[in-house]
Amino acid sequence: MKRKETARVISQERISGDICSLVLSVTFAGDVSAGQFVSLFPHGKEKLLPRPISVCAADAAAGTIWLVYRVAGKGTKEFSQLIRGDEVEVMGPLGHGFPLEEARGKRVLLIGGGIGIPPLLFCAKALKGSADVTAAAGYRSDSTYLLEELEALCDVLVSTDDGSMGVHGTVLDAVRADGRKADLIFACGPRVMLRAVKEYAAEHGIRAYVSMEERMACGVGVCLGCVCTTTAEDAHSHVHNARVCTEGPVFAAEEVDLS
Ligand SMILES: Cc1cc2nc3c(=O)[nH]c(=O)nc-3n(C[C@H](O)[C@H](O)[C@H](O)COP(=O)(O)OP(=O)(O)OC[C@H]3O[C@@H](n4cnc5c(N)ncnc54)[C@H](O)[C@@H]3O)c2cc1C
Ligand code: FES
Repeated sequence: MKRKETARVISQERISGDICSLVLSVTFAGDVSAGQFVSLFPHGKEKLLPRPISVCAADAAAGTIWLVYRVAGKGTKEFSQLIRGDEVEVMGPLGHGFPLEEARGKRVLLIGGGIGIPPLLFCAKALKGSADVTAAAGYRSDSTYLLEELEALCDVLVSTDDGSMGVHGTVLDAVRADGRKADLIFACGPRVMLRAVKEYAAEHGIRAYVSMEERMACGVGVCLGCVCTTTAEDAHSHVHNARVCTEGPVFAAEEVDLS
């Protein structure tokens, strides 16, 4: 059940270039599952809309969630200035996450690009001991945030756009170069990467789930600002649309149009 509340900042750290790590104390930490997100509310009146950020880890005992985000514009710049003890409005947990039950006992490939990597760290942790997990992480350069944390949980294939680490190219280049078999793929990253994942999964007959990073406004299913095109018809409205914030952000790859 989602809640809107005032969260306290436990820590804030710049972990690499424009990437920040923010730990918040919230009442709903125990209810969050891998692939779900929260909405963070900036203070400024001109920036009233909340910003969706995936949960990278949740600690039910400590009552905390960990967010890792890129400073992209005004909202995330404001979040990057929060310090320990500050308060911020947060709503969560939101959306449907990855189907972890389906992954149990399987060979699972987690594919993350850029700021799509944080929710996959949550998946790797949730699946440890119950699935054979490999992660493929694509970065711009050797500023490889969250790599150590991923490597502590599973095998990791690395790619960089500039060739400074791992395979020189895309994260799918790293996956193809490695060639290992998988039964299931969970992916999060830019649309172009998700399209390549969908093609790769179809080529190899692998079931895949993708987390969509559509722009959002309300974050709770009201404004229809985040719809994506789907193959299935909505039973209520009879259109081929789904709201990423409520029906997603995770969808079966074959169900969403990524063109
Ligand atoms: C379900 C979901 C989970 C997300 N999880 C994370 C996360 O874990 N870490 C993280 O860094 N970012 C994440 N994002 C993207 C994040 O929400 C945007 O970067 C943020 O809203 C930008 O707000 P801003 O005010 O700083 O920038 P704005 O001034 O609003 O925009 C700055 C730039 O960011 C781009 N942008 C804005 N919204 C999005 C979006 N939804 N997707 C891609 N680009 C966007 C704009 O086109 C523009 O180029 C997620 C988005 C969604 C939908
Ligand atoms: S953001 Fe408003 S319906 Fe999804």
